Amino acid sequence: MKIAIINGPNLNLVGRREPGVYGSRPLDEALRQLIDRYPAVEFSLFQSNCEGDIIDEIQRVGFDADGIVLNAGAYTHYSIAIADALRAVTAPAIEVHISNVHAREEFRHRSVIAAACRGVIAGFGLNSYRLAVEALLNDKL
Ligand code: DQA
Repeated sequence: MKIAIINGPNLNLVGRREPGVYGSRPLDEALRQLIDRYPAVEFSLFQSNCEGDIIDEIQRVGFDADGIVLNAGAYTHYSIAIADALRAVTAPAIEVHISNVHAREEFRHRSVIAAACRGVIAGFGLNSYRLAVEALLNDKL
């Protein structure tokens, strides 16, 4: 089982960025712990602040991985190009958000990538990533 975790813009700053919204734990630390929790799963980790690099990574892993866990950050709300990339590949993707985007500003309520995803998990803090991994693992049962 191969799972690719892809993070978009500003997610490299989680831990320091708006701790009231995203918490004060660094994301990379939480993701390392998540990886250790599932030794049978082959994970890849990627983060970029650039839309094209995220698309390149979706294309790179998307025909080989069994699933993609994607937090596209603000691109979630307007990147048709990322939605198209998700539709182009074979791996199912779970859209993930640390915060409950539906309880925030109205522009965050709309996702243009959700319809290209298997499902969406939002609002469980850094646990959202674990829940997405569980969703992919359980899909395989
Ligand atoms: C986010 C929510 C987005 O609206 C925001 O632009 C982010 C992070 C989240 O994980 O809660 O960068 O994707």
